[in-house]
Amino acid sequence: MSNKTVSTPVPSRRALLFGSAATVAGAAAGFALGTGNAQSAHADQGEALHGQQTIEFYGTHQPGIDTPAPAFVSFLALDLLLPDGSSMVDQREILRRVLKLISADAHRLMSGRGILADTEPELAQNPARLTVTVGLGPRAVKIMNAALVPSWLKPLEAFDIDKLDEAWGQSDLVIQICGDDKMSLAHAARAITKDVRSMATLRWVQDGFRHSRGSQDEAATMRNLFGQVDGSANPRDEMLERTLWGGEKLEPWVRGGTSLVLRRIEMDLDTWDHVDRPGRDFSLGRRQDTGAPVTGGGEFDAPDLQATDELGLPIVSPDSHVARSQAREADEKILRRGYNYLEGQHAGLLFASYQCNVEVQFLPIQRRLAQADMLNEWTTPIGSAVYAVLPGCVAGSYLGAELFSD
Ligand code: HEM
Repeated sequence: MSNKTVSTPVPSRRALLFGSAATVAGAAAGFALGTGNAQSAHADQGEALHGQQTIEFYGTHQPGIDTPAPAFVSFLALDLLLPDGSSMVDQREILRRVLKLISADAHRLMSGRGILADTEPELAQNPARLTVTVGLGPRAVKIMNAALVPSWLKPLEAFDIDKLDEAWGQSDLVIQICGDDKMSLAHAARAITKDVRSMATLRWVQDGFRHSRGSQDEAATMRNLFGQVDGSANPRDEMLERTLWGGEKLEPWVRGGTSLVLRRIEMDLDTWDHVDRPGRDFSLGRRQDTGAPVTGGGEFDAPDLQATDELGLPIVSPDSHVARSQAREADEKILRRGYNYLEGQHAGLLFASYQCNVEVQFLPIQRRLAQADMLNEWTTPIGSAVYAVLPGCVAGSYLGAELFSD
């Protein structure tokens, strides 16, 4: 079963009406008169409504990881409310109820319906590729089934580059909500947290964004707030499958599951402003304009780390971000599905990395980057959390149903 399919409805009556109304309005205002092409281009742009596009909740894997990354994300961190002195059996029941509720809510919201007893079901009507993805922190997996706690499910070791703020720290659960419409996303976040609030409390929310839907080619790689093309070397096809869901010698913690490392990385845009274009490209190892390696080729080509200039110096600095982050072992592959944040004076990246095994795939890269990476001059990790991502579930069931130890 796959949840990769995005259902694309036929153009709605409203879309067609809106499109022609916009054209008529444009003609009446005079700005498209006499330019047939300009007029039809305007109509084409006006007709692209995406609100009814949905992604399937049920499947082998949870959606929101290898499904297309829509414009917005909200990561919600929840802590379970466990009564003092409650037994393991009671705690397990609380977690089970939370997962049942979230699963039922996710299924309804992702298909464009309000949750049961929704006070604003109207806000759910344009899901716009809404996805809900659930990960568990160490305490929650232990409550679910102590035998299933993976060895990597713990805070990452301390790195010299870190200035971690506990305010963005580990929680019992993370709910990642993605979508192209901030309204349906905001509603989903509120509906779910409201639904579980007697059993779980909100610890933090981290909101992020990418390019708006329709502003550029769907397949184009996103840019981060440094202006860089970010995500080009992500694994694809079979390599992606193996990275996320495992294969020979690389098993996920449970079948169909994976892991998420979420790092909140502050980016100093003010000092980055002072870096000229050659300096920017040199520190990354790729060009800011096209995303191509500084040694030539296209965006999806790998940089040639052996190439030297006329003085015999390496063209790609060994301390550049791509030289340091490139895989040294076959298994050092991660899926980066980050989102930008910009809140007042604070800008950065919600660096979300998915892989079956944090220890084997993510940590060697992070250790190298913490040791040396020219980008560290302008970036500071301020938040860090690790989650075991539950496998998907079949229709009528709920996330984690088969993993509870009783
Ligand atoms: C704010 C912090 C960061 C920024 C701005 C950033 C930006 C970039 C950019 C622009 C690229 C080149 C294009 C691409 O392949 O995506 C890249 C590559 C990469 N980054 Fe980062 N990155 C950051 C943090 C990290 C962290 C924390 C890790 C992992 C621990 C990481 C791992 C990688 C990897 C594996 C590649 C691909 C290397 C390759 O195979 O060529 N990055 N990053």
